[in-house]
Amino acid sequence: VTDGNVNLLYRQRLNRYFAERGAEIAIHVMPPGESQKSMESLVNIFDAIERFGIRRYSDPIFAIGGGVVTDTVGCAAHLYRRGTPHIRIPTTLVGLVDAGIGVKVGVNFRNHKNLIGSYQPPMISVMDRKFLATLPLRHVRNGMAEIIKIAIVCDSSLFDILESAMDELLDERLQTDLGFRVIDHSITAMLEQIRINPWEHELRRPADFGHTFSPRIEMDSNGSLLHGESVAIDMALCCGIALRRGLLDDVSASRIVDVLISAGLPLCHKLSTPPRLCRALEDTMSHRDGWQHIFLPTAIGRGVFVEDISVDDIEESLRWVCELCDTGGLK
Ligand SMILES: NC(=O)c1ccc[n+]([C@@H]2O[C@H](COP(=O)([O-])OP(=O)(O)OC[C@H]3O[C@@H](n4cnc5c(N)ncnc54)[C@H](O)[C@@H]3O)[C@@H](O)[C@H]2O)c1
Repeated sequence: VTDGNVNLLYRQRLNRYFAERGAEIAIHVMPPGESQKSMESLVNIFDAIERFGIRRYSDPIFAIGGGVVTDTVGCAAHLYRRGTPHIRIPTTLVGLVDAGIGVKVGVNFRNHKNLIGSYQPPMISVMDRKFLATLPLRHVRNGMAEIIKIAIVCDSSLFDILESAMDELLDERLQTDLGFRVIDHSITAMLEQIRINPWEHELRRPADFGHTFSPRIEMDSNGSLLHGESVAIDMALCCGIALRRGLLDDVSASRIVDVLISAGLPLCHKLSTPPRLCRALEDTMSHRDGWQHIFLPTAIGRGVFVEDISVDDIEESLRWVCELCDTGGLK
């Protein structure tokens, strides 16, 4: 299973790869885009599997694409015959450092992100950063948001690299040795977060930094904001809250904001209004069993969870973020 863009770019090479290994395959192509992370796409995948016919354990489903493809296929694989093996080949930066390596799979439902889903580890994830060579720059920046996130929550040395070499990493689409180190650091840090809490019995997840307000903003943007862009807006807002509460110092807040700006990520958006952000928090609290469990950074690589974010916190931080957007950063 792949999407229309990846199919156009890589169809011939995929056909050749499987043919050289004597594998009989059928390719199901989903239209690209977040709107395709849907129940309908699951049904289309089930139909394609039925037409082709697969054996229970020895014929895996390949998910070849970005997070939309790997999340949707993983969900279909979880449901089909109560579990069919799947192999992920992430082709975006979000896929390489996050969606392609985790255990969470799912689709959106009734304008709620990832509402229907499960935990379904892949048999294998094949990480090949050469795919990034054809990825549009906006999507490279988008993936950078998840790398910045993991650096802020638990890897200050990764943050140092991002701070010193963002332009080079973006220009070279992470194809250099430094790009390899960044992806490697990022995957290692993310896998460690998953290893200690794979089934999310603990709902205080540092890796959820940037994922409190962002799901609502992303869904309400109807595709105009990408996943990582919404996460960046959420991270900036949470930094503002941490700063206001005296949890984060000016220098660290400034470093975080500067890295987000250097990656070309947004800090705010017209959809970030206090009522929408409050609604977003309510949605997320039901997902977190009634708790806020909001991760706020206290330094680069460290943070705490808080449970008492108020409307005032949100409004004041929004003002701070809006001023930054006007001035282009803290400097
Ligand atoms: N399961 C998880 O743990 C997890 C983690 C992070 C994100 N996600 C999900 O991942 C999704 C976002 O993933 P994404 O950013 O990869 O989006 P995406 O799958 O929509 O891919 C982005 C765009 O890039 C195109 N594309 C893919 N590979 C390409 C390539 N090599 N060259 C050129 N174009 C290419 C796609 O067709 C698409 O248009 C969101 O739905 C998000 O919720 C899931």
